[in-house]
Amino acid sequence: MHAAIIMDGNGRWALARGLPRLAGHRAGAEALRRTVEAAPGAGIGVLTLFAFSSDNWRRPPEEVAGLMQLLAEHLRSETTRCLENGVRIEVIGRRDRLGGELPAAIATAESATAAGEKLQLRIAVDYSGRDAIAEAVRQAAHAGLVCRECLEEQLGPPVDLLIRTGGEQRLSDFLLWECAYAELIFSRRMWPDFDASDLEAAVRQFHARQRRFGALPPLPAVVPTGAQAWLD
Ligand code: IPE
Ligand code: IPE
Ligand code: MG
Repeated sequence: MHAAIIMDGNGRWALARGLPRLAGHRAGAEALRRTVEAAPGAGIGVLTLFAFSSDNWRRPPEEVAGLMQLLAEHLRSETTRCLENGVRIEVIGRRDRLGGELPAAIATAESATAAGEKLQLRIAVDYSGRDAIAEAVRQAAHAGLVCRECLEEQLGPPVDLLIRTGGEQRLSDFLLWECAYAELIFSRRMWPDFDASDLEAAVRQFHARQRRFGALPPLPAVVPTGAQAWLD
């Protein structure tokens, strides 16, 4: 199963505790580590995590610099553990605007863990779904054929389950193509509080959903009566 997570709510988590936003991001890195550890047990083979969007450059430079440094530190400290646990790290998104130690940390993490087969961990940094689609189209056109399969190959596997923490219900330019038939699950939990039981609950909810991909269901659908019209 390919699960993707928009890890949102670090800033509000920190604010609620009277802490600087960066403390929220640091706690978020812990949640990331917990989630990666729990993913294979939850039946997840590919996990794509949104760490920094191309629109996040709009934030104050101190927060951006702190996030970049935190990401580099996280990659460095987690590479050995990932190697031991069969986790293959891959970073998606633009590389040309990343500074400091991050490009080197990415290259080391990716090459050191390249043989991992238990979990494919894709971390989206300076990522924009619209830019990713535009780039895939450019590449396909360059190769002489723009087709659905060609783009899929460039972009990555379709997402089965998309989770967003932090209470917002939007995609914020994440995996737009890949989420064509993703089951969407939104949690009010702020990302630093997310744990293995939340991941398992989301996966359970996913399995309770009926995916139809446009076809008809094997059993006729039961229409709930008296339920409120709008989903929460
Ligand atoms: C998600 O948390 C992390 C990044 C976007 C880098 P936020 O920093 O967006 O936290 P909130 O949404 O302000 O609480
Ligand atoms: C999306 O969160 C990006 C990441 C979680 C990395 P944002 O906090 O940037 O999204 P918006 O601004 O609320 O849409
Ligand atoms: Mg946010």
